[in-house]
Amino acid sequence: MRRFVGKLTVVSEPKDGRMDSFLIRGGNRLKGTIEISGSKNSALPILAACLMAEGKTVLKGVPRLSDIDSMVKLLGEMGCHLYRHEAADSMFDGPALNGPLDFEVTDEKKCEARYDIVKTMRASICVLGPLLAKRGKAIVSIPGGCAIGDRPVDLHVRGLQKLGAEFHTEGGNIVGEVRGRLKGCRMYLGGAQGPTVLGTINVMCAAALAEGETVLVGAACEPEVSDCADMLNKMGAKIKGHGTPEMRIEGVEKLTACEHRIIPDRIECGTFMIAAAITNGEVQLKHCNMDHLIAVTDRLEEVGVHISRENGTINVSSSRRLSPVEMTTQPYPGFPTDLQAQLMALLTLADGMSVITERIFPDRFLHVGELNRMGAKIRKEGATAVIQGVTQLFGAPIMASDLRASAALVLAALAAKGETKIDRVYHIDRGYEKIEQKLAAVGANIERVKDR
Ligand code: EPU
Repeated sequence: MRRFVGKLTVVSEPKDGRMDSFLIRGGNRLKGTIEISGSKNSALPILAACLMAEGKTVLKGVPRLSDIDSMVKLLGEMGCHLYRHEAADSMFDGPALNGPLDFEVTDEKKCEARYDIVKTMRASICVLGPLLAKRGKAIVSIPGGCAIGDRPVDLHVRGLQKLGAEFHTEGGNIVGEVRGRLKGCRMYLGGAQGPTVLGTINVMCAAALAEGETVLVGAACEPEVSDCADMLNKMGAKIKGHGTPEMRIEGVEKLTACEHRIIPDRIECGTFMIAAAITNGEVQLKHCNMDHLIAVTDRLEEVGVHISRENGTINVSSSRRLSPVEMTTQPYPGFPTDLQAQLMALLTLADGMSVITERIFPDRFLHVGELNRMGAKIRKEGATAVIQGVTQLFGAPIMASDLRASAALVLAALAAKGETKIDRVYHIDRGYEKIEQKLAAVGANIERVKDR
């Protein structure tokens, strides 16, 4: 039987940790257990999909992150009430970190995602499909480029157009409208760089409430797409084939609120696997799904990291004799672009030359310059980085630039000799829940220096 031990609290407004920094004294071997949080990239589109449900949805495992706060703020402006229960009893509710989040739509009049919020978080684009399907209108500020390169939304718009939505741009916004009801059809959703994760989710959400059947060919197969499809199916949607490139969605008239637990964050898990490897450590990762990390495990084992699975726990250890490898980022189930920077940090200490090619975001290399400031030897040629392993990294003052690049810098600092000060850690706060507490608990010497 479930026991509720938390009390109801309103979700906090985003905190501005803009100028906080991390002070890391490297060299400690990480040893102990880390609990993995719920997936940020699953929770964000799932929160947006809840716009379509009638009644009170209960989401479990939503991580406490500034990106989640931004999405909550955005949905609050769209007539949704969200409440976060305080941490529940971990014996009954999985990871002890967070209580469930209640979501209820109380006013369907507002359909606008303002630039102020969209510019801080591109995942705001996830409201486009749900708004069009449920409210018949959406005004979403066009997300600009970001630190990892150009990030167009043409595939989202094209997919929704094929379902019958009409679009124009006005004052920097995409304005979409639906006359009557969206209509299912067969479509190809891939683009020049392959499938789109959030584009697939946007079109899938809209198709769930469209008239008739939609077939999405070239759909993204990421676990985050499947997680959203699983939740929509609990709400009464009829989605099949998620997790494969061809999805079939039979539209339904309405979706009814449900209870859903967000999947574990595979990128956070992969980051901590690399943290264990780079510090010659021995770490157990709890509440994770190793099946979602098969390509990551494959590359890390090739590097010489020892990985085993035991009842939902992943054991990672390394003797820090690291072999060089080649790796190309690919759509799921390939090696994720969101762990490219972290793997690069590890390979700076390998015994020889490694090659990393970035196929998803060819400009996602902002970490290269900062890693080189710590003594790494990395040469970038187009979308490829050649990493000549060194025997030691050295602490230095460095700057976080985007979420995953920042995580790579934390990993490098954990292994470096001396002290590293990483400025602008608000990038890390967007996607890693309590990272400094989790690392300190397994022996890292890491401290947050608050901006006063
Ligand atoms: N693309 C287009 N047109 C579009 C959409 C995408 O050309 O309309 C291109 C992109 O430029 C890119 C490729 O398609 O080259 C794949 O992009 P995708 O649309 O899959 O990225 P996304 O859905 O916007 C999500 C994650 C990213 C992650 C990518 C790839 C969330 C909130 N974001 O973005 O996560 O890197 O999928 O797996 O789920 C992160 O967490 O740090 C992060 C950036």
